[in-house]
Amino acid sequence: MSSPLFRTKSIKQILADSEHPEHRLKKTLTVWDLTALGIGAIIGTGIFVLIGTAVVGDAHRPGAGPGIVLSFILAGVTCAFAALCYAEFAAMIPVAGSAYTYSYATLGEFLAWITGWNLILEYGVACVAVSIGWSGYFNNILKTLGLELPVWATHAPGSAEGGIANLPAAIIVLIITGILILGVKESARTTGVIVVIKLAVVLFFIAVGVGSVEPANWTPFMPYGFEGVGAAAAIVFFAYIGFDAVSTTAEEARNAQRDVPIGIIASLGLCTVLYVLVAAVLTGIIPYTKIDVHAPVAEALRVAGFHWGAALVATGAVAGITSVLIVMMIGQIRVFFAMSRDGLLVPWLSKVHPRFRTPHHATLVTGVGIAVLAAFVPIGEAADMTNIGTLFAFALVCAGILVLRWVNPTHPRPFRIPFMPWIPVLGMLSCLGLMYYLPTITWIRFVVWTVIGVALYFAYGIRRSKLAVKRA
Ligand code: ALA
Repeated sequence: MSSPLFRTKSIKQILADSEHPEHRLKKTLTVWDLTALGIGAIIGTGIFVLIGTAVVGDAHRPGAGPGIVLSFILAGVTCAFAALCYAEFAAMIPVAGSAYTYSYATLGEFLAWITGWNLILEYGVACVAVSIGWSGYFNNILKTLGLELPVWATHAPGSAEGGIANLPAAIIVLIITGILILGVKESARTTGVIVVIKLAVVLFFIAVGVGSVEPANWTPFMPYGFEGVGAAAAIVFFAYIGFDAVSTTAEEARNAQRDVPIGIIASLGLCTVLYVLVAAVLTGIIPYTKIDVHAPVAEALRVAGFHWGAALVATGAVAGITSVLIVMMIGQIRVFFAMSRDGLLVPWLSKVHPRFRTPHHATLVTGVGIAVLAAFVPIGEAADMTNIGTLFAFALVCAGILVLRWVNPTHPRPFRIPFMPWIPVLGMLSCLGLMYYLPTITWIRFVVWTVIGVALYFAYGIRRSKLAVKRA
């Protein structure tokens, strides 16, 4: 195909570019680092905060009630299909950029750009929501200690509370930006410690809560039928986002072809089991109508009489959400880095720091951008926006696997998806199915976002792309 929109970057070229000394990243991450990065990105705002809205519902949709258990299974299965596709790609093309890079190798430059543009929703916009969630829990802990911060300094201007700026959210993002500029190994180590803490807190919640479960609370199981379960699945999908962030750091893995698939699948599997247990215990402890939407997990323990347990869970939530922020920011930075290296974004973004060997420009832009948005934008529908962009990107990854098996069947695949073509086909269908359950307003915003992305591509990327320059 001769149209620039369909030009693809060969896998050989992708691997060669990543080895270019000017752009080369340090290869230090082990299988444990990768799995920890995955769990670090997965368990966070979704399970600690959004589960409340998913159970109870909001102005846009009904809740799932105790049927939230099914919602988690549904969203988990959707992610499992996508995770297998990611694993095959990550083992074949172990370079930064994730879904964006995979699309570039298979679906052509235009859809690669659209994928990258959606990954900004998945990582960048997710970080905005996550850091505001972090600030909420942080303020909650301060309040428990009698150190309440003023409303003007902890809420965005457009929020229900009406503040001036959410300073804790912005400050935590800037601190993480500094850590990331110093080096990815250091941040992976930090993540490892936090991951252990948050796993312990989740297990603690399950262990303490299970004794207070009243099976009567599980009926009615699906108060709003499947409509509620589907709508909740589209919300708690957010809780799984992050397993794919492992693939964005593949270029920094010591043995990417073996360890990245293990890291992706292990982290997703473990989190699915934990989520289903948390959902069952949460809806078993108190009637679903009494579940709090701001700090549901901690508040449920408080209602059940475990006050100290609630404080412990809140502390774990802050730690957990911090590690989500770290990994999601790494993801966003790597996507900017890869798109700039290909000429679709300005070259300045893919410069690597001479001493720290980190993409410091992309890190600064990402950090400052997220910090500003986190300070001034209310949390609002950020999670829905993240979900729609991510689901679309996942569907494109599944499509890419099918295309690559077709056009390049002989390329070595260290990890091969079984039951072809069913897994990628089911992956695409289930992603589109979850998108269907998102509110209309989210769809409208998504269309606007996509139109802006298309305009930018035609204004810049189509001519400045390395592939275009090479052919000229
Ligand atoms: N899965 C991540 C979270 O729930 C994005 O915070």
